[in-house]
Amino acid sequence: MRFSAEIGWTFRSFVNESCLKLCLVCDCLLFWCERAQAIQGNDITVKSYKVESRITSRFAHTTVKSSVVNSGSGAQTIGFNVQIPKRAFITNFTMNVNGITFIGSVKEKTVARNLYAQARARGKAAGIVRANSLDMETFKTEVHVPASSKVEFELHYQEMMERKLGFYQHTLHIQPGRLVPHLQVDVYIFEPKGIRAVETPNTLGEHFEGITKVVQNKDKVHIVFKPTLQQQRKCNNCTESAVDGVFTVRYDVERESNAGELQVSDGHFVHFFAPKELSPLSKNIVFVIDVSGSMWGLKMKQTVSAMEAILDDLTMDDYFSIIDFNHNVRCWSEELVPGTSIQISEAKNYIKNIKPNGGTNINEALLRAVQMLLKASIQGLIDPRSVSMIILVSDGDPTVGEIKLSSIQKNVKRLMREEFSLFSLGIGFDVDYDFLERLALDNRGMAQRIYANHDAAEQLKTFYSQVSSPLLRKITVQFPEDSVTDVTQNHFDKFFKGSELVVAGKLKSTSFTTLYSFTTASATMDLSLEAESDLQEMDTWLSQHEHSFSGFARQMWAYITINQLLAQRSLAPTAAKKRRITQAILNLAVDHQFVTPLTALLVQSEDAQERLLADSPRDPKQGCCSGAGYHVQVYSQPSWVRPTLAPTPSPAERPPIGPITVGKLVTSFCLPDHLENDPHFIVHLPKNKMDVCFNIDSEPGHILNLVSDPGTGVVINGQLIGSKRVVNHKRNTYFGTISVSYKPEEVRVDVGTNGIDTKHCSLNDTICVCVCGMPPRVKVSILKDSEVNVTVDDKISLMVLLHRVWKKHPVNVDFLGFYSPSNNQYSTQVHGLIGQFANEPEVKVFNLHEGSDPKKKEANMKVKGNKLSVTRGWQKDYRSDKNKGSEVYCWFIHNSGKGFIDGHYTNYIVPSLDSFLPQL
Ligand SMILES: *[C@@H]1O[C@H](CO)[C@@H](O)[C@H](O)[C@H]1NC(C)=O
Ligand SMILES: *[C@@H]1O[C@H](CO)[C@@H](O)[C@H](O)[C@H]1NC(C)=O
Ligand SMILES: *[C@@H]1O[C@H](CO)[C@@H](O)[C@H](O)[C@H]1NC(C)=O
Ligand SMILES: *[C@@H]1O[C@H](CO)[C@@H](O)[C@H](O)[C@H]1NC(C)=O
Repeated sequence: MRFSAEIGWTFRSFVNESCLKLCLVCDCLLFWCERAQAIQGNDITVKSYKVESRITSRFAHTTVKSSVVNSGSGAQTIGFNVQIPKRAFITNFTMNVNGITFIGSVKEKTVARNLYAQARARGKAAGIVRANSLDMETFKTEVHVPASSKVEFELHYQEMMERKLGFYQHTLHIQPGRLVPHLQVDVYIFEPKGIRAVETPNTLGEHFEGITKVVQNKDKVHIVFKPTLQQQRKCNNCTESAVDGVFTVRYDVERESNAGELQVSDGHFVHFFAPKELSPLSKNIVFVIDVSGSMWGLKMKQTVSAMEAILDDLTMDDYFSIIDFNHNVRCWSEELVPGTSIQISEAKNYIKNIKPNGGTNINEALLRAVQMLLKASIQGLIDPRSVSMIILVSDGDPTVGEIKLSSIQKNVKRLMREEFSLFSLGIGFDVDYDFLERLALDNRGMAQRIYANHDAAEQLKTFYSQVSSPLLRKITVQFPEDSVTDVTQNHFDKFFKGSELVVAGKLKSTSFTTLYSFTTASATMDLSLEAESDLQEMDTWLSQHEHSFSGFARQMWAYITINQLLAQRSLAPTAAKKRRITQAILNLAVDHQFVTPLTALLVQSEDAQERLLADSPRDPKQGCCSGAGYHVQVYSQPSWVRPTLAPTPSPAERPPIGPITVGKLVTSFCLPDHLENDPHFIVHLPKNKMDVCFNIDSEPGHILNLVSDPGTGVVINGQLIGSKRVVNHKRNTYFGTISVSYKPEEVRVDVGTNGIDTKHCSLNDTICVCVCGMPPRVKVSILKDSEVNVTVDDKISLMVLLHRVWKKHPVNVDFLGFYSPSNNQYSTQVHGLIGQFANEPEVKVFNLHEGSDPKKKEANMKVKGNKLSVTRGWQKDYRSDKNKGSEVYCWFIHNSGKGFIDGHYTNYIVPSLDSFLPQL
């Protein structure tokens, strides 16, 4: 999790609900810990939990309702958390607390925030957290209520089902948290052309085998999942609920004709196009695979395993090659080769033997890939009816060559031809997924995030199978100009087997009775198809079907339009254009009541005295949170409402707490190794009874490995920032980010140089503790105005201090200090700039003599078999004096620690904040 690019806390692997709660608001953590316990108490009775989805023509409206009673003897907090698909838009939320109704309405973010600020909520909170688990985000509400209170929650959201690999899949997360007397899930599907197949794979676990009931006729399906109280129990006698997971429905519709299905309703139309029985076009693929250091280990293994399956899928008619890149770019074959079994087995061998290391030169690799396709095209190797694509697999930002993202985007676009497309797959969390997505959208492709978990190989293969069978090219769906307006995207570059193209729009008038669509496309031969729909038919049909979702066409049109606008917005070339698009999205989102990245849900009591705000997170930026199957993004104020709960004082009584300004160190570790500005490293060597110091003269942006311990799974890296100006031909560097990763739990904590807003921190203003993992293995504590400690397994601890400088200082910038006690219990495999001294080397200092500076004695040092010249010097240690620091006598090693550290300091530069040090 990350505090809005402020002090960046990134906790990974938080699928666990209670932990999620703890870490939500890092500056109020104690407070959250206690509350999480309260929630786990048994004094809350969930009377009913009902989920209902109405799917009409692929558009779903889902309602989640829950009725909860505080059955304890005291006041407590009731939470209502629902995981919803990221692609869904929340449309409403209402709540009834002891007879007082709160109703939601979607407003522009700033409007909602202003209204919220005028009347805060008492003991209530709502928010949307971009969360972990594959493509889901969490809507969270909490209400603090007196004994025997009754609360009813009701959440609505809408989404379009996308057809993938021949099915529409509807997933509902059913997590009532406890046994519920009335637990029920209903899914109603209405498809006017008929339902070809419906499946309800038992994704909730074998415990629920046979409980789901399906009632089906030609065009309707009703699916019910209604486990009794006894069936919900994890075991015969237990009080724990086994209902905790995903409920899945998959279906496909009948297709009468290849021309597609045209539906008209309520002044809007939707055209679905998914022709069958076409044979796949042959394809030319260049796979561009990132093999930089960060891919080392599991990611590479999974990529290799996925690539083996993908290569096996190629046929003799397909052409392909592979480019692998780190700071260098290598081609398996300089030219495209046919997918014969010999070539495929050679390619597989090549991939298997790749050893990832080094930097990331995406620009060069992509340009080479485009050139390869261009060359093949010029040489006439490419069948004009085939499909040419580049599939990029990467896990990190560019670090070598052209690293400016916008320039890479431009370079690639300039070289690409109309008939080529680029698909990008971003693995894991370090990748700037937005960038990969822009690249793909800009070049007629798609992007997909691959979550770096156990089934990453499966995800890669699934994505590939979605694009591996192109059936049509250059598809255009048109309508008579005088009958429609506001038509969504109607030119498509490709149509892939198992997918569906959807075009929606508004009717210009209703003075005609039939709407026509004309579709043209090119395949092995050119296609031209016509579909028609009666204007009344669908509305008549809907009015006769009780459980249908009658507003579907209008909402679906808005849903598609907003998503297209959001994509255009991210590609907008000028600020003016972006503003226009933003305004268009806002108008639509407010009109159709969608909570988008630009709107928020304001929930208020009937008398408007109390308001809560649920914001969706902004488009998450790089790395953090939009992805990586396991982390949570949290924004600090104002996008997250900090609850103010009894018995904490009311806002008036609470002193306002300003932003944390972490000063200098206040406490002292006993035997520290530490490093401060420039970065100066001070290494305390207890056995030798001396301190040794050195500077590392690296460059801003570089990430230095401080501790790399494969034995315990702990990695500590620091990224450098530069001072504002060059002074005496030198730009000082400092640590701008310190990142601690604990691999076994996939926990990662990034500490940046900005403060945390603690305005609503109410329980304990001084110390906040966050625990990560279940059972907690990593603990993070923050001392306001001072410091941050991270403790792993009670064995390894470290402290990060923020040094603030005067904001307008002409040269200096805020920076971090890092302190690690020497009694940390690392494994014997520990290395890194600091870690290597956990195994203390023997150091001898001799031949003490006057130096050129009379105040600084010089001497020789023998260490690790090297003889060095060293200077007696001082370094500042800020742990005992926050402001001035105290002077530490140390022997200073010149040339960036050369001879004292193993190897050269550049060996310690790693590609990403969670990279282990490669074997030196
Ligand atoms: C939200 O739900 C409430 C209660 O059902 C309703 O009064 C209100 O009109 C709904 N808002 C929207 C935008 O549908
Ligand atoms: C579980 O239930 C059975 C009978 O239903 C009872 O005999 C047994 O003692 C119970 N076990 C526990 C641990 O409550
Ligand atoms: C905050 O927590 C610290 C450490 O647990 C404790 O010493 C202090 O008394 C607490 N302050 C308040 C206001 O509860
Ligand atoms: C951090 O650790 C040091 C040393 O153990 C301790 O003195 C200090 O109180 C800790 N700070 C926080 C915020 O927990």
